[in-house]
Amino acid sequence: MAYRGRVVLKAAVWVASLWPLGVLVRGWLADDLTANPIDYVTRTLGLTALVLLLTSLGMTPLRILFRWSWPIQLRRLLGLLAFFYICVHFSVWIGLDHFFAWKRMGQDVLKRPFITVGVLALALLIPLAITSTQGMIKRLGGARWRLLHRLVCVAGVLGVLHFLWLAKKGRTTPYYYAIVLGVLLAVRLWDWGRKRLASKALKHEPSPPLGERVAVRAETLASSDEARAE
Ligand code: HEM
Repeated sequence: MAYRGRVVLKAAVWVASLWPLGVLVRGWLADDLTANPIDYVTRTLGLTALVLLLTSLGMTPLRILFRWSWPIQLRRLLGLLAFFYICVHFSVWIGLDHFFAWKRMGQDVLKRPFITVGVLALALLIPLAITSTQGMIKRLGGARWRLLHRLVCVAGVLGVLHFLWLAKKGRTTPYYYAIVLGVLLAVRLWDWGRKRLASKALKHEPSPPLGERVAVRAETLASSDEARAE
């Protein structure tokens, strides 16, 4: 994708992602945040975080299915924006919901499973946010970095579980999120299985006869000798 296209796409992601926050700020300034503002703010932030997290998780399946390269360029930005919303969501819970009552918060984490999984998801996302820079990719090495960043799938599962757990009876929205997540993970799993099968098949391919291998080796040695001599 051309440079200008990438800039436009990223600008669109920024605007769309920060829109819900803008709506909340406008509602706060106009004193128009429904009859239960803390609940409304917590839920809006949580839902936006989950949408961004799943969108970020959707970028790899888009590349797998359609061989597009642009989704990968948005993956990090979407993940970081999701992390930002989760941090604000968490801060509202600490500051406005519990007024920094640490003991009560600790009890809440232990007693309410939806809070426990929410905190776990946040904890998993912290190392991912820290290691999201190019410098960190180099320092960890591609393979280790990729392995670590698979944790985003676990965070996605915990995020959806958090939503399913807290939803009131009869509310179907969380199930739609669970279905979307299931499809995204299934595509990744299918791709992983396909690649594994392909690499196994490559390993079991019969190697060329010994005579042929010796000839190739002799040719390689001869050409490297020539190169050294030049
Ligand atoms: C990956 C991390 C998280 C995600 C994706 C997430 C997402 C959500 C979602 C989608 C909702 C429901 C929105 C709705 O009802 O429309 C929600 C509600 C909520 N979340 Fe989170 N959340 C996360 C982490 C946390 C953490 C760490 C806490 C606090 C420790 C937390 C506390 C809450 C609370 C208190 C509610 C409102 C529950 C209620 O209305 O009864 N969440 N969250």
